Amino acid sequence: MKYNKKFQTLILALLLGFLVASCISNVEEQLEEQLEETKVSYINNVKPILEARCLSCHGAGGIFPDISSYEKVNAHAVSVKEEVASGRMPKGGPLTAAQIKSIVDWVDEGALEN
Ligand code: HEC
Repeated sequence: MKYNKKFQTLILALLLGFLVASCISNVEEQLEEQLEETKVSYINNVKPILEARCLSCHGAGGIFPDISSYEKVNAHAVSVKEEVASGRMPKGGPLTAAQIKSIVDWVDEGALEN
């Protein structure tokens, strides 16, 4: 009888432990998913800005650097960030604060092809 009680308590403790552990890992997974979702997207955010405001000058065969594809932007990501953050680019009218933030954050997040 005594042994059974101890055994029951042990099982209960194990079950509780398991529950708590699975809860925590669920929360971690959700946080990671949210982080992924809040990263700036190259395809949805950055590329349209570059197309509208940069490629008239920095397209293939245009002024250096050519930033007309992901690989090419990626190769010049740091200078693109610096030019945009400082307001030196684009020539011909500033970007909005939100557009600048998109490009700066995207580069800071690793200039992903996302
Ligand atoms: C009207 C043409 C024009 C547009 C539009 C333009 N640029 Fe430029 N960009 C230039 C010229 C010209 C240079 C050469 C340096 C200079 O004259 O300042 C240059 C230089 C650069 C450089 C190189 C700076 C260095 O280190 O030498 C980068 C990076 C750059 N531009 C990024 C951009 C980005 C990003 C955009 C869009 C947000 C953009 N540019 C829009 C004309 C343009």
